[in-house]
Amino acid sequence: MHTLPFAPDAPWLAPLAGYSDLSFRMLCRAHGAACAVTEMVSVKGLVYGGHGTTRLLATAEADTPLVVQLFGAEPSIFERAMPQLLERGFTHFDLNAGCSVRKVNKSGSGSALMARPEQLLKIVEVMLRAAGPGRVGVKMRLGFQPGEENFIELGQRLAELGAGWLTLHPRTAKQLFGGAARWGSITELVRAVPIPVIASGDLFTAEAAARCLNETGCAGVMFARGALTDPLIFQRLRDLLAGRESAPRTAESLAQTTGLHIRLARELDGTPRALRALRSFLPRYAKGFSGIRALRQALITCESWEELEATAGRIAELCGSSSPLSLADHVHFSSRAILPDADCAPPEGPADPPE
Ligand SMILES: Cc1cc2nc3c(=O)[nH]c(=O)nc-3n(C[C@H](O)[C@H](O)[C@H](O)COP(=O)(O)O)c2cc1C
Repeated sequence: MHTLPFAPDAPWLAPLAGYSDLSFRMLCRAHGAACAVTEMVSVKGLVYGGHGTTRLLATAEADTPLVVQLFGAEPSIFERAMPQLLERGFTHFDLNAGCSVRKVNKSGSGSALMARPEQLLKIVEVMLRAAGPGRVGVKMRLGFQPGEENFIELGQRLAELGAGWLTLHPRTAKQLFGGAARWGSITELVRAVPIPVIASGDLFTAEAAARCLNETGCAGVMFARGALTDPLIFQRLRDLLAGRESAPRTAESLAQTTGLHIRLARELDGTPRALRALRSFLPRYAKGFSGIRALRQALITCESWEELEATAGRIAELCGSSSPLSLADHVHFSSRAILPDADCAPPEGPADPPE
């Protein structure tokens, strides 16, 4: 059984609703992700057989170490969901106390739990009782709203309960993704708790992650939007910390990454839904390349896996063999483009239309 990696050169893939599915997790693992978290899974959906839960929990032997992220508001529902998950062989779990999407918060889940710390603690108690000490983490924000930053007290109480790690996205829930992530708060949490703290927030490049590790003393980092633009970001951080030169970002490497993602999605999922998702997913990898518009156009018309593969085969030609692009030149793309329609897309919503 795997224990989870907590180290500067062991970057995690963050939970990303609508994105961190099995094929994307495998793509990131192939490029150096040391651990991955599933999209958030509704415990209600699990218990009542909700639409889409099976897909969200799809995994494979090589998809390890894996953390299943759960969201919900009622300890009694977690009590019923946990045995199901353990029976399926999942070993490590994360409680979502950070998602600030209205639909999720309205049900009392996600970051709304930060405003009800006793409820949050009860849920974690239930999860720990089922999974065992150290097998449960919590992904938090600073607090629900400005003036209510309770992450330190909550973090300490969670550590006392037996939580194995904490992840901090240092903004309040009300802030959504506005302003800069306050890495200084990560430093405070690291000093206040005896368990590993994983940093999340504005880690768009390997250089930013290295700076965050250095400034905060966190145990490790978690890439979210940065990985959606450049799945090689994990290896880049490992290279940077080891003092190695990283592979340049060229049209050829773009073609390889895209081709691998298509192969994985076809093999591991293969549904029309997965194909449609890829058509909008893939152009993100080409941020900053000259032919991105032509690529997007070509992808939109792909109706079959064969067409998608053929288009991927033309990427080097579509995007030109421009000189290597540094992602640092394109941080502004990755920091914005992904949010408006997709942030924490509720897993039971229209993200999963009938095939
Ligand atoms: C599209 C999208 C989906 C997300 N889904 C989840 C989720 O399911 N669970 C969660 O805890 N956080 C979720 N997050 C938050 C990220 O895991 C991460 O904490 C946040 O994006 C900050 O990191 P970044 O600035 O490096 O992107 C999501 C963020 C984005 C952009």
